Amino acid sequence: MSTTFQLDTSTSRANPTPSPMKRLTVPAIRARKKGGAVDTPIVMLTAYTARQAQLLDAHCDLLLVGDSLGQVIYGLPSTVPVTLDMMANHAAAVVRGSYHAVVVVDMPFGSYEASPHQAFASAARLLKESGAAAIKLEGGAAMADTVAFLSQRGIPVMGHVGLTPQAVNVLGGYGARGRSTAEADKITGDARALDDAGAFAIVVEGVVEPIAIAITEQVSCPTIGIGASARCDGQVLVTEDMLGMFERVPRFVKRYGDLAATIEADVARYAEEVRARSFPGPEQTYQPK
Ligand code: KIV
Repeated sequence: MSTTFQLDTSTSRANPTPSPMKRLTVPAIRARKKGGAVDTPIVMLTAYTARQAQLLDAHCDLLLVGDSLGQVIYGLPSTVPVTLDMMANHAAAVVRGSYHAVVVVDMPFGSYEASPHQAFASAARLLKESGAAAIKLEGGAAMADTVAFLSQRGIPVMGHVGLTPQAVNVLGGYGARGRSTAEADKITGDARALDDAGAFAIVVEGVVEPIAIAITEQVSCPTIGIGASARCDGQVLVTEDMLGMFERVPRFVKRYGDLAATIEADVARYAEEVRARSFPGPEQTYQPK
C-alpha cells in the first residue's frame, strides 16, 4: 500500500497531488525529545477522512485516527462500541489523504486487552490494512507487557494515560483524573511503565496540571497533552471540537473556528434558493449547443 498521497484528480474532488515530500517517521518523532525536552512542541490532531487529512497534514507532525470517531462520526454514545473494521477503514482513508504526518491509529476497546498476542493480531491487521505507521492503546502499567511485546515485534506504540475514555464504565465519567495523591501516583507510575516498556510517545489526557508536568519530566519519550498542560512535549485535540462543529465540548477545548454556524448558514441559503427556484442558475445548468 502506498503511503504517498496520490488521489486521481480526474475522478475525485481532491486537491492536486502536492509535491512529494518525505513522510515523518516514528523514530524522528521519538528523537524530538532530547535531554528531557523537545525544542518545538509536537503538533497532533485527530483525522478520520481523506479530505480532512489533506487539510491538516502539512500543519501536523502526527495525525491520530482516534476511536473518538465513534462519537464524532458515528454518533455512538462512547468509544466502547467502536470496531477494528471502522478503525482500519478510516485509517486507510487518512493515510491516502496525507503525505507528511505520521499516521497513528487507535486500537478499539476489546481488540487488545486480553493478551499481547491478541494485541499483536489486531495491531498487525490495522497497520497492514491502512498503511498507518503506529498504533495507540489506552492503559498504563497493566498494558506494559503488551507495549513491550508489540514494540519488540515491529509495531510502534503510543500510550495513553490519565482519563482513558474506553474505561468510562469503570471510571464512571469523563472528569479530570489525579486529584488525590494515590490517583496522581498511579497515573505517573502508569506513564513510567509505558516509557520503560518502549512506548514512543504517551498521550496524557484529562489530568490536573502538576501530574502532566511531572510525567513530562519523568519519562524519556514525548508526552502529548489533551486537557493536561502546555508544558507537555506536544498537544492533541479532536479536530471537530477545535473547529467548532459541536455545541458542547470539554472545558479544555479551545475553539479556533465556528464550522457548525458556517455550515448551517450555507445550508439555509441553499435550501432557500432551491425553494425559490433560483438554484440551479444559468451557470450550473447545461444547454443544448
Ligand atoms: O480517540 C481520540 O481522539 C483520542 C484523543 C482525544 C487523544 O484518543
